[in-house]
Amino acid sequence: MIYFNEKTLEFHLTNQAMSYVFRVMDQTGTLEHLYYGSTIPHYNDFSFLIEREIRPSNNQVWGNNLTSLEHVKQEYPVFGTTDFRYPALDVEYPEGDHISQFVYQSYRIFTGKKVTGALPGTFGEKDEVEVLEITLKDHYSDLLLVLTYHLYMDEPVLTRQAKLINQGQQAVSLHQLASLSVDFPKGNYEWLHLNGAWAREAHLTREAVHLGVQHVSSTRGHSSHMHNPFLALCQPDTTEKQGEAYGFSLIYSGNFLAQIERDNYDVVRVQLGINPFQFNWQLKAGETFESPEAVMVFSESGLNGMSQTFHRFFKKHLIRSPWKDKKRPVLINNWEATYFDFTEEKILEIVDEAQQLGIDLFVLDDGWFGHRNSDTGSLGNWTENRAKLPHGLKNLSEKIHEKGLLFGLWFEPEMISNDTELYDQHPEWVLGQPDKNISHGRNQFVLDFGNPAVVEHIFEQMTQILSNVEIDYIKLDMNRYISEAYSNMLAANQQGEVCHRYIIGVYDLYERIVKNYPEILIESCAGGGARFDAGMLYYSPQIWASDDTDAVERLSIQSGLSMLYPLSTMGSHVSAVPNHQVARVTSLEMRKHVAMFGTFGYELDPTKLTSKEKKAVKQDILDYKRYQELICSGDFYRLETTDENQVAWMVVSQDKNEALVGYYQILARPNPSYERIRLLGLAKEKEYSVSEGDKKTVRYGKDLETIGLILNENYIGREQEYWSRTMPGDFHSRVFHLTAR
Ligand code: DGJ
Repeated sequence: MIYFNEKTLEFHLTNQAMSYVFRVMDQTGTLEHLYYGSTIPHYNDFSFLIEREIRPSNNQVWGNNLTSLEHVKQEYPVFGTTDFRYPALDVEYPEGDHISQFVYQSYRIFTGKKVTGALPGTFGEKDEVEVLEITLKDHYSDLLLVLTYHLYMDEPVLTRQAKLINQGQQAVSLHQLASLSVDFPKGNYEWLHLNGAWAREAHLTREAVHLGVQHVSSTRGHSSHMHNPFLALCQPDTTEKQGEAYGFSLIYSGNFLAQIERDNYDVVRVQLGINPFQFNWQLKAGETFESPEAVMVFSESGLNGMSQTFHRFFKKHLIRSPWKDKKRPVLINNWEATYFDFTEEKILEIVDEAQQLGIDLFVLDDGWFGHRNSDTGSLGNWTENRAKLPHGLKNLSEKIHEKGLLFGLWFEPEMISNDTELYDQHPEWVLGQPDKNISHGRNQFVLDFGNPAVVEHIFEQMTQILSNVEIDYIKLDMNRYISEAYSNMLAANQQGEVCHRYIIGVYDLYERIVKNYPEILIESCAGGGARFDAGMLYYSPQIWASDDTDAVERLSIQSGLSMLYPLSTMGSHVSAVPNHQVARVTSLEMRKHVAMFGTFGYELDPTKLTSKEKKAVKQDILDYKRYQELICSGDFYRLETTDENQVAWMVVSQDKNEALVGYYQILARPNPSYERIRLLGLAKEKEYSVSEGDKKTVRYGKDLETIGLILNENYIGREQEYWSRTMPGDFHSRVFHLTAR
């Protein structure tokens, strides 16, 4: 429900689970933020929420001592009118100044949300989402600022977006247009974010919000391995299971900024949007610029509550692929099996073996095109490599389909190698200043996807393959960072637009693929998880989580991603040992137990498995398929463990009649303590049969939550077994399946 009080000019956006209140300030016409959190009753007058002290040493916008914006919690702050914190909007005017003052003009309330324009976003029917659109006008120019709030009715979710319209006669330079800005009152806050590097993405960090500015961001052209366009704010006593949490996610895959600023009066400002670093957009007369959309989630049931809301919300209102609710095929990808070194014969051997194992889909990764036998060339030449595949892709796909498997293919559309005809014909299509050095990354250069002709050309090339070969799945990769963001197509004063135009071009390509080949399952990827973000999920229902396939490493990566991304979006595969990234040897069982909490697959050469392993893999695939529905549609919980040596995950079906628990112990300890894992999300009064392989016990939901699963053995009466027991050793995992009786 969205209330507007004509008298007090207050807006109250509220549903069963959250309230958000702001008002128009009488003297300045600025929007003042009043409240965000748990649902509160609607008041005819929210003025009791206004906090205003007379403080010496402030600048006043006008007249009296009460018009300083320095201590006002604002909805969408600008710099240059007495607030000295970081702004949400930064416009440079033709005169060279950055002084804006946006004054409230009007509002509009309507229902339903569609995605229009060049950026991905959320969608909802008329009975699912209510929209508030507020228009403000710049006191000094003909710029209009439109702030949009989408209140989803059945979830504690609000999404926000900003739009700047130039109704004047002259261009302005837009340096920043944040997607959201929220000022929180004084409190004891901590913040969470995901960080890492290649092969160790999405590690969760939780730290105190300190005075001053702290942020995570990307300047690399995509959301990056280093940080994720996400942050959460919570209290020190918020746990997985209880307490308040506010989650913020940006639906964007390019350079972003997620920033927190705690000022000297302890007001905490959270902002999310395109990274203003070197961003400079020429907003010409008559033009409009739209920010990406940002999602705000409020939880009163801890971090799991926040994550589950994100999961449900993304599945229902962001991911649009017809695959989103379908069972995903169990795939095998040849990358770690062969790298570039494969022949048609070798591929068919892998496929034969995969068929025996019960795998559904074979994915041919990098190396099938041009003359690509290493990572030194051929990107941008998307024609099949007949030296490797003498009978061509079409024939290969037919053979694979005849064997009953689906066929998938890898592309890296945004890249170009300097040994291609395309590079010779169109050197101006490469990002970089031609008179200066242009760095390569993995021996490749970045195509200027901000240029529509480039997108058109690459799509045309892809079409030749996608329309002539029966392809069921594509993996779209992106393996380097943008270092010299310069486009030959743009004027000197537009070079600050390159990175944003680039990502719009990427979205354009994805959109064309989705529209023209709606049945193809897309898995996006960027050197592993460098573009694991909500923007990509709009086009691809699954994303390759990391190039690190080691089961232990994946515990941190998948736990981190699960903060906001559903399990059904996480590409996770069983690979060979010793693992190719860390040389660790883990059991096949543990690798399976980790990979099954995601979109399950294999990334190894099945012809090299022993017959015992093949037998196990066959069974593992059957087991996974048995639980697949539960894993992909159930509620996911990160369970609390007593130390960092252990990780535990759980999925509970919507009707609470079935659950799966994964327990992982990293290193073995001598003479260990007793361990219990308290479960979550079960029906307290229900009796569950808990099975681990052949072992079965019966327990009530209530005591599984309060006492937990007891993980140690009970040797009373079987003392002699103690001396002959098999020790599980390092990297040990267990899976428990629960069914209500
Ligand atoms: C990076 C991806 O993450 C890998 O899975 C693989 O596709 C390689 N690129 C191929 O170059």
